[in-house]
Amino acid sequence: MKALVCHQYGPAGQLTVEHREDPQPGKGQVLVEVHAAALNFPDTLQIQGKYQFQPPLPFIPGSEVAGTVLAVGDGVQQFQPGERVMAFPGIGGMAGKVVAPASAVRSIPDNMDFRTAAGFAMVYTTSYYALKQRAQLKAGETLLVLGASGGVGMAAVELGKMLGARVIAAAGSEEKLQFVKQFDPDELVNYGDGELKEKVKALTDEKGADVIFDPVGGALFDQATRCINWNGRLLVVGFTSGQIPAYKANLALLKGASMVGVFLGRFRREEPQEYERNFAELLHFYAEGILKPIVTRHFPLEDYVAAFDVFTERRVMGKVVLDVRAPS
Ligand SMILES: NC(=O)c1ccc[n+]([C@@H]2O[C@H](COP(=O)([O-])OP(=O)(O)OC[C@H]3O[C@@H](n4cnc5c(N)ncnc54)[C@H](OP(=O)(O)O)[C@@H]3O)[C@@H](O)[C@H]2O)c1
Repeated sequence: MKALVCHQYGPAGQLTVEHREDPQPGKGQVLVEVHAAALNFPDTLQIQGKYQFQPPLPFIPGSEVAGTVLAVGDGVQQFQPGERVMAFPGIGGMAGKVVAPASAVRSIPDNMDFRTAAGFAMVYTTSYYALKQRAQLKAGETLLVLGASGGVGMAAVELGKMLGARVIAAAGSEEKLQFVKQFDPDELVNYGDGELKEKVKALTDEKGADVIFDPVGGALFDQATRCINWNGRLLVVGFTSGQIPAYKANLALLKGASMVGVFLGRFRREEPQEYERNFAELLHFYAEGILKPIVTRHFPLEDYVAAFDVFTERRVMGKVVLDVRAPS
């Protein structure tokens, strides 16, 4: 099979496309022929050796894919060869074939194409967990989403609307806000000028947002702590700015606010039944046409540098996907 391989940490230009031995499914595993592999921000960190979970070198990046089942290992009865699936192998997805535990494979709704399926799980399960279990977002509350045009941000805007919140979608440029408009947020805020706090206060009668979804960190996090409402919940999702901010605890006291961590991988391990319920609900929402994720960019596997550059140059809108097999 062909595979994108990371032999040394560095920029995407140091990756290589190579021929590799096909993997074989072990007990409890599913072998998937990959049609599309999604990119996520952590992929860009992992190839540089900067992520909190680093596989040993050399490795094939790619945590989530969509394709067809080629074979199943002993003990796997719920999937058949030829079935359309999405899979989350964690690593190894940017290749012609990958194995994943059956517990990390799902059937794809009939109305979902491979590109959409490849990029669905990570961002929607993260943002749903954040809003539903961690923030316990209620209908009528105000939800501020930072980085709203990116993967988890787009999902948070869509899910926030679905849950009945008043959604303020915030991003760093007008172009990104135009993209987010498709998800029907109630308000748009451009924080490219550094004035997030003032703009959010003006939109909330000076009170601030009830729930703030923050995948960015850095200076934006600091502003977010100052435009949060009484009893507010600030969701710590990620640090795409490259800076892990410090929290001024007096602000929690003054606003009765909570800083709430969001860690999808640990949620999945600690609360598997809740995770499964969330996932099943999300697939149902998609099948019913309630969720409409957008894959804005797709590249052949061989154009991986251009695909990674979309992330490192802060140009992401919606999902970015590599076509490992040419779409039929
Ligand atoms: N906690 C969890 O369990 C979990 C799960 C999945 C992902 N995550 C994390 O969530 C974050 C977002 O992931 P994603 O895949 O949605 O990323 P993404 O699609 O690249 O979106 C990230 C957003 O961050 C903003 N941003 C601000 N400064 C940036 C910079 N210097 N470089 C790049 N982007 C910057 C961008 O919006 P603007 O330009 O509009 O600011 C961009 O839309 C990552 O940190 C990821 O590790 C966490």
